[in-house]
Amino acid sequence: MMRHLIIKILLFIPFIAISQELLINTSNRNTTSLNGTWNYIVDPYETGYYNYRYEPYDQLPEKNNSAFYNNYHASNKLELVEYDFDKSPTLTVPGDWNSQYEKLFYYEGTIWYKRSFDYSFLNENNRLFVYFGAINYKAEVYLNGKKLGIHEGGFTPFNFEVTDIVKPKGNYLVVKVDNKRFKEAIPTINTDWWNYGGITRDVKLIEEPKTFIHDYKVQLKKGNANIVSGYVKLNNSLGNEAVTISIPELKINKTYTAKNGAIEFEINTKKISYWSPESPKLYDVFIKTAQQSLKDEIGFRTIETVGPDILLNGKSIFLRGICIHEENAMRGARAYNNADALVALNWAKELGCNYVRLAHYPHNEYIVKLADKMGMMVWEEIPVYWTVDFTNKKTLNIAKNQLTEAITRDKNRAAIIIWSMANETPPSEARNTFLKNLINHSKSLDDTRLVSAALEKHYKDGFNVVDDEIGNYLDIVAFNQYTGWYGGSLEDAPNAKWNIKFNKPVVISEFGGGALQGFHGTIQERWTEEYQEYLYEQNLKMIEKIPNIRGTSPWILNDFRSPKRVLPDIQDGWNRKGLISNHGIKKKAFFTMQNFYKKMKLQYQ
Ligand code: GCU
Repeated sequence: MMRHLIIKILLFIPFIAISQELLINTSNRNTTSLNGTWNYIVDPYETGYYNYRYEPYDQLPEKNNSAFYNNYHASNKLELVEYDFDKSPTLTVPGDWNSQYEKLFYYEGTIWYKRSFDYSFLNENNRLFVYFGAINYKAEVYLNGKKLGIHEGGFTPFNFEVTDIVKPKGNYLVVKVDNKRFKEAIPTINTDWWNYGGITRDVKLIEEPKTFIHDYKVQLKKGNANIVSGYVKLNNSLGNEAVTISIPELKINKTYTAKNGAIEFEINTKKISYWSPESPKLYDVFIKTAQQSLKDEIGFRTIETVGPDILLNGKSIFLRGICIHEENAMRGARAYNNADALVALNWAKELGCNYVRLAHYPHNEYIVKLADKMGMMVWEEIPVYWTVDFTNKKTLNIAKNQLTEAITRDKNRAAIIIWSMANETPPSEARNTFLKNLINHSKSLDDTRLVSAALEKHYKDGFNVVDDEIGNYLDIVAFNQYTGWYGGSLEDAPNAKWNIKFNKPVVISEFGGGALQGFHGTIQERWTEEYQEYLYEQNLKMIEKIPNIRGTSPWILNDFRSPKRVLPDIQDGWNRKGLISNHGIKKKAFFTMQNFYKKMKLQYQ
C-alpha cells in the first residue's frame, strides 16, 4: 500500500534519478529479460519530444499527452491523439534498426521504442533497476511517463532505478533513441563503419536487495602475483555489513566488515593457476553479504611491460592478433549475443590468434567473457576516433564517461590486457591534453592493465618515423600502417627503414588491404585476392624486422559495412579489407597470416 502511495507522490516529480551507478556482472544477478519485440515510431522531426514551439515536453510543468513517452490512447472517438504505439510496427531488441527494415537501412535520427510489462517483486523490500547493454547513440528513458534519465554513448551499459515507479501491471517503458552523428560526440561525425542505431544490446530488469553489492574488483595486486586484491562496494549500506570473499579452489574464504559501504582486501595465496591463452583458468569467485551472494568467474594473471617486452605472467609474449568490428558480417548487422561472439573468436582462433583488437569501441559483454573462457587477450578501445572535438570539455567528459563505463563493466576480465584511448587522432596540443587526461583517468580506475592508442607513422628522409609525443605516455607504442594500400611500395617493404622514438613494445595495430573474395588476377591488380595476399606477404616480411615488434592485429577479420566504401561491383557499401568475406569465405591472405602466426608461435614458445 505504502509503495503505491509513494508512486502517486513521485508521479508529480518531473525528473527522477535515484541510483544510476552501473551494475556489473548482471548475468549473475536476479534478472527479467525485456528482450523481444518492442513497438517503434520513426520520428525524424521529434514530434513526440517537442511541442510546436520546439519546447521539450518533459521540461514543461504540465503533462502533455502528445509526448510519446506518455503512451497515450484516445479516451473517446473525438479526442485528438496522433500516435499509437500499440498499432505501430515492431523492432526486435536487441538489434540495430538498420538491418531490420530496408526503409531504416540509412536512417539517422530519432526512433521511439515502447515495451509494456508487468512486474511482481520477489520481496517487496527489494529494489528494481532497468539495465541497457548499450543504445546507439543517445537514449532518453521514461517509465510510466516519468523520465528516468539520459545516456549518451553507443557502446557501454547503463541503468536506472525504477523501484518507486514500477507498478504490478501495465508498465510502459519508452525509450527515445537518436543516432544522429554530431561534431561534439564520441565518435564524431566521420567514421569508417556503419552508424547502426537502436537498442543494440540486451535490456533487462534487475531486482536487488535494499542493500546490495553494486560494484567489486577481484584481481591480482599490481606487481604482485601472489596477492588477490580488490574492493566491494555496497549500495545503500546501513553501516558495518559483513562481506565475504570466497574462492573455494584457492581455499580463500574471508569475511570483512564494511566501512562507509565498502571493503578493500589483499589476500595472500600461493596456489594460483595463472590465466593465459594456453591455459585460460577461471576461478569461481563468490561475494556474499547477509542479503546477497554473487558469483563471478575470474582469471588471475599479471601483465606488464619491461623495455620492449610485453610480459604475461612474467614471460615475454608476441600478440598474434586480428582487428574485429562488432558486426556479424553474414547478417550485415550489429553483433549482440554469444553466438555472434563465437563466430568471431573461433575464426580468430583458426587464424592462430592469441589476441584480438576489439575496434573501435567497447564491444558487448558476451565477446569479452568468451575471450576470458577461450584464452584470447583483448585490446578494448573507446571511440575517440580520427578528428574529434579535442577542445570541447563536453566531448572530453563523454569520452571519460565511456571509458569509466567500459572499465567498470570489464575490470574483472583477465582477457583484457590493454585499454586503448584512441585511433588515428591527429597530433596537436589540444589532442595531447585530451588523451593525457584519458590516460590518467584510465590509470586511476585500473592501474593493473596497459594503456595504448593506435597512432600513425610518417615518412622522413627515407625512414618510417613514429615519434608521436603521446607515445611517451603509453605503455605500448601501437600504430596503423598501410604500406601498399594507402601508398608506399610493396616491392621495397621488406627493406623499409624505421625510426621509432621509444624503447617500448611496438604493436602494428592495423595493416592490410582490400580484396573482393572470389575476384582473382595478378598481383598487379588491386582488389584481387592475389594482390591482398602479396600485400600481406610483403608487409609481414617488413613487420617482423621492425625494432621492438611484439605484436600485430591486421585490419580486419572480415568485410564490414561502411557508407564510405561505394565502388560499384567491388565495395557496394562494404569495406573489403577482411581476411574473410561477408559470406564467411576465407580469402587467400587469411592463410598467409595463419602461416605467419604458426611461425611466431614457435618463435615465442
Ligand atoms: C583506418 C581506420 C579503420 C579503417 C581503415 C580503412 O586505419 O583505423 O577504422 O576502416 O583504416 O581505411 O579501411
